[in-house]
Amino acid sequence: MSTFKVIVICSALFASARGFGDKFRRKVSLELNPGLKPPASLPPGVALVHARGLGLNDTLHFLLCNHGAPALLLVHTNSTESEVKVDWPLFINSSSPGSLRVAPESSVQYSSALVFTRLWEYDDVNNTADPQQTAESSFYPPYELQNFIWSDQNATANQTDHMITLCGEAKTESFLNGSLCLKFSVFESAGRDQPWPSLLHNANSSQLNIWLDGVTPRGNCSRFVMEFQSVGDSGFQGRVDVRSSIDDEYTPSIFKVSEWVSSPLNSSGVWGFSQWKPVAYRKPSPVFEDATPCRHSPLVPVSRSPASTLVRAFFREHPQITGLNISFGVDQDPAFYSDTRYISWTVLMGMGDPPADSFSALIIIIIAVGLGTPLAIIIVGGVFVCVRKRMARSSGYEPIN
Ligand SMILES: *[C@@H]1O[C@H](CO)[C@@H](O)[C@H](O)[C@H]1NC(C)=O
Ligand SMILES: *[C@@H]1O[C@H](CO)[C@@H](O)[C@H](O)[C@H]1NC(C)=O
Ligand SMILES: *[C@@H]1O[C@H](CO)[C@@H](O)[C@H](O)[C@H]1NC(C)=O
Ligand SMILES: *[C@@H]1O[C@H](CO)[C@@H](O)[C@H](O)[C@H]1NC(C)=O
Ligand SMILES: *[C@@H]1O[C@H](CO)[C@@H](O)[C@H](O)[C@H]1NC(C)=O
Ligand SMILES: *[C@@H]1O[C@H](CO)[C@@H](O)[C@H](O)[C@H]1NC(C)=O
Ligand SMILES: *[C@@H]1O[C@H](CO)[C@@H](O)[C@H](O)[C@H]1NC(C)=O
Ligand SMILES: *[C@@H]1O[C@H](CO)[C@@H](O)[C@H](O)[C@H]1NC(C)=O
Ligand SMILES: *[C@@H]1O[C@H](CO)[C@@H](O)[C@H](O)[C@H]1NC(C)=O
Ligand SMILES: *[C@@H]1O[C@H](CO)[C@@H](O)[C@H](O)[C@H]1NC(C)=O
Ligand SMILES: *[C@@H]1O[C@H](CO)[C@@H](O)[C@H](O)[C@H]1NC(C)=O
Repeated sequence: MSTFKVIVICSALFASARGFGDKFRRKVSLELNPGLKPPASLPPGVALVHARGLGLNDTLHFLLCNHGAPALLLVHTNSTESEVKVDWPLFINSSSPGSLRVAPESSVQYSSALVFTRLWEYDDVNNTADPQQTAESSFYPPYELQNFIWSDQNATANQTDHMITLCGEAKTESFLNGSLCLKFSVFESAGRDQPWPSLLHNANSSQLNIWLDGVTPRGNCSRFVMEFQSVGDSGFQGRVDVRSSIDDEYTPSIFKVSEWVSSPLNSSGVWGFSQWKPVAYRKPSPVFEDATPCRHSPLVPVSRSPASTLVRAFFREHPQITGLNISFGVDQDPAFYSDTRYISWTVLMGMGDPPADSFSALIIIIIAVGLGTPLAIIIVGGVFVCVRKRMARSSGYEPIN
């Protein structure tokens, strides 16, 4: 019984210490193509998704657009009245700077975008799974995401689960049966998705799950690399941190989390982040064996603005652009893309500090039992000894002074 009490007390202490209840909530709503009216129209399958996360004092806007290279833009304002204004003809025709803005502009505190630029494929004949060590001649021409055709499934914004999926394909034979899909989700409060990698999210973040399904590989040992760019205000700098954990309960066998964070030049405080676990999955409903590690390249400064309408329309002054590659697979891994013709990867993007995985209830109980049992034995033992002494005393065997 004592052990049980110790467990309960320890769990409660741990839980309160690590901010178990991140109670922060936002009122989330999703809209498609805000203010778009005929005759202006977007190409088939192309959409501008706007997710508004209303806080008590502030608003977090997430915008996802697949006109040009797909991009996810985050804008944080210190007003509850801020709105997205789009000059649709200018936005569609020329993506002129300022054709998409968040008004009032004085309320904007922070903005940052993540752009998916290219999908690289290489023939990994040496089985190193390391693009840096692979001869350039082994690379096939990359798939430029800005040229993708998006399927016109009349995407509807689901107000219940705050999710939307966009699927597209390259205009090549290898994509005849294949597609690249982006599933975008926004959240009202802290939690985690059921499917692996089960990233912890909060109300200040949104999630993109990206998968490549059914594409015909161009080589016998094809592996893929996804190229991203991060676009942000000048005055900020990016770095990738890798954090370790001792707990892999939510993402089996993965003890690391990678965070691409953005900090002001003169401080180390984190204002925005992209966070992922270094793992991809080879099946839509993966079992343990379908996990494959992935790795990121060093950050590279980029001088040309990415071919994303959303980014070109929103950022006016010269923004800061950095590129990064995520490559899927590990050396000597016998499974190439051709094995399942499927690879899926998930990234979280948000403002403030990235959510941190901490000890799960199971681990806490294990620790509590480990610490609690000896403690309980000491207490019980102590009580037993006291009682024995008292009994000895009351039974008349008083020691003589
Ligand atoms: C809202 O803003 C006020 C003043 O700016 C501040 O005192 C308060 O803590 C803020 N509330 C929240 C929930 O952020
Ligand atoms: C957009 O482009 C089309 C053709 O390229 C042109 O006819 C139209 O006037 C343009 N609209 C605006 C608002 O620039
Ligand atoms: C919002 O931030 C701007 C500066 O970025 C400041 O001038 C303004 O007073 C702030 N508004 C509120 C309501 O805090
Ligand atoms: C395979 O490895 C050899 C020796 O390390 C290297 O010379 C060759 O360029 C590699 N081939 C490819 C396609 O990367
Ligand atoms: C999309 O759905 C709306 C409402 O369900 C409908 O009015 C519209 O015609 C549909 N558009 C296409 C291209 O199917
Ligand atoms: C929205 O999502 C909920 C939960 O996943 C689902 O039950 C519902 O059918 C969806 N609605 C539409 C219109 O897709
Ligand atoms: C696409 O699928 C069809 C039917 O499943 C198959 O006949 C065809 O060979 C496939 N094409 C490619 C390029 O894989
Ligand atoms: C989310 O943002 C709000 C407003 O800036 C802040 O008060 C809150 O602490 C943040 N929540 C987390 C979990 O970072
Ligand atoms: C792929 O493998 C097949 C048979 O295993 C072989 O005929 C073909 O030449 C190989 N293709 C390449 C590009 O190596
Ligand atoms: C960083 O620099 C900006 C201007 O460049 C200044 O406004 C801000 O107060 C500085 N922040 C810190 C923490 O020094
Ligand atoms: C991504 O990898 C490709 C192929 O190795 C390379 O050409 C490109 O420069 C890389 N991009 C970044 C941002 O590192």
